[in-house]
Amino acid sequence: MAEGKYAGQAKCKACHSMKKHGEMHGIWKRSLHARAYQTLLSPEAKAIAEARGLGDPAKEKDCLRCHVSAHDVKAERIQRGFKIRDGVQCETCHGPGADHVRLRQKDLNAPAWRPELSRGEIRLPSEKDCRACHNPDSPTFEAHGFDFAKALGQIRHLHPQRKAPRVQAKVKKPPAAASPPEKEGG
Ligand code: HEC
Ligand code: HEC
Ligand code: HEC
Ligand code: HEC
Repeated sequence: MAEGKYAGQAKCKACHSMKKHGEMHGIWKRSLHARAYQTLLSPEAKAIAEARGLGDPAKEKDCLRCHVSAHDVKAERIQRGFKIRDGVQCETCHGPGADHVRLRQKDLNAPAWRPELSRGEIRLPSEKDCRACHNPDSPTFEAHGFDFAKALGQIRHLHPQRKAPRVQAKVKKPPAAASPPEKEGG
């Protein structure tokens, strides 16, 4: 994992909330990831914790590790504005984003879509990243399971000019039907 600092979702909102740029922030905000901390305040969560001999789920490491971002990251890598209550935030999947935020300041009003701008400073997640939380260690995993392809579709937030998904579930295709690798960018 990169050693960068965590900026918090409010910073990302400044540049990734406009509809014409893909409304990433709004899509995330409406997803359950944004409410994952609130879930730990529910009676259902308390019952789950109690059954495991744990205390308040909103304070237990063994609940927080999957329901919030950066719970075990040293304080010096957390910027002001980052809030635990914001749940599973952007930077859980994209890595610490403070450098990206700083480098993009001049693009705040960028009129054009320039996907090449961010190469290297922020990453895209893989199936392995999702399975760090969507696995049988989750007390409620059995009732939900995890179908990566379907789950990706549920949380997807692409730029409208993007012609194909960038992260995909591997589908086994017969060699004859294989297509050449997608070209990146727009
Ligand atoms: C000052 C503006 C700005 C801020 C703040 C910002 N971004 Fe970006 N981000 C951009 C620009 C510009 C691009 C290039 C793509 C584009 O033109 O839409 C980009 C691209 C990305 C990409 C795509 C990376 C790639 O390889 O194509 C991700 C992921 C991303 N940002 C995540 C974040 C996250 C997470 C945060 C908050 C921690 C954040 N951004 C904050 C401007 C910003
Ligand atoms: C840090 C842990 C964590 C990671 C990493 C994570 N998730 Fe989740 N995810 C959760 C939690 C916790 C919930 C349930 C939130 C709740 O109900 O409060 C959830 C819920 C979901 C849901 C159902 C909720 C909805 O909004 O429809 C989908 C789909 C999902 N995750 C997909 C993914 C995908 C795809 C990835 C990887 C790209 C991923 N998740 C990575 C913790 C995580
Ligand atoms: C390994 C990661 C992980 C851990 C640890 C974890 N959760 Fe979750 N939790 C998830 C994920 C992922 C979901 C989404 C549904 C699913 O796959 O279980 C979720 C969903 C939930 C839900 C909503 C269930 C529903 O059906 O809507 C509750 C409540 C919950 N967790 C409570 C807890 C409590 C309390 C703890 C600590 C004792 C805890 N979780 C620990 C990953 C985790
Ligand atoms: C649960 C994991 C997860 C969370 C949380 C998440 N993203 Fe993403 N993000 C992804 C995945 C997966 C993709 C690639 C989607 C695809 O290829 O279909 C992506 C793609 C992107 C892109 C690139 C879009 C493009 O067309 O190039 C940007 C920008 C982005 N996310 C910003 C954000 C911001 C901002 C937040 C928080 C408000 C956020 N993401 C939260 C998983 C996540």
